Amino acid sequence: MNILVVTGSPRKGGNTEIMAEVFAESARAVGHEVILKKLSSLKVNPCIACKYCFEHNGVCVQKDDMNDILKELDRSDMLVLASPIYWFDVSAQTKCFIDRMYAFGKKGFQIRSIAMLLNSGADNVYAAAEAQLKAISSYLKWEMKGIIKIPDMTEKGSMLGSLHLQKVRDFAGRLK
Ligand SMILES: Cc1cc2nc3c(=O)[nH]c(=O)nc-3n(C[C@H](O)[C@H](O)[C@H](O)COP(=O)(O)O)c2cc1C
Repeated sequence: MNILVVTGSPRKGGNTEIMAEVFAESARAVGHEVILKKLSSLKVNPCIACKYCFEHNGVCVQKDDMNDILKELDRSDMLVLASPIYWFDVSAQTKCFIDRMYAFGKKGFQIRSIAMLLNSGADNVYAAAEAQLKAISSYLKWEMKGIIKIPDMTEKGSMLGSLHLQKVRDFAGRLK
């Protein structure tokens, strides 16, 4: 599969990006092509609801980094969203990316499946992020491959020592 991974933490080298890199490495090891896009180094503004994209085959009017990401999305079979939990939901950066996928709302999507990698300080803080992803995947008829949740991420780099990272490796290694 061609897999696009989009990370939505503003913190370069933080827990979300570590989680996503472990996923990418493990998925590549079993033969998948993985493109990793880190929003910490890219500019993806909020959607401005102009619907230019609906008349221009999915091209967004905004001249930020989203059109390049959309080109990758159009070459991908699966999308993996990686986000920290911010106030019991995905980060604003992740939500901006999700909103900007509206560009393909009329043209349609190439991807057929989706998954999410979440991490947070506390446990039991994932309900909103999970509900959103499940609703989107149901609406767009994407197969939901899984949602991996890793709590106890209190410091930058906590992820490096987390035994839960094995869940990410196992998940990526099982993908078909
Ligand atoms: C603005 C902000 C809001 C947060 N909100 C929550 C929260 O609601 N629940 C929680 O468990 N952790 C929360 N956290 C902690 C982060 O989810 C956690 O530290 C995560 O590992 C950060 O990922 P990163 O290193 O990739 O940035 C919050 C952190 C920030 C900066």
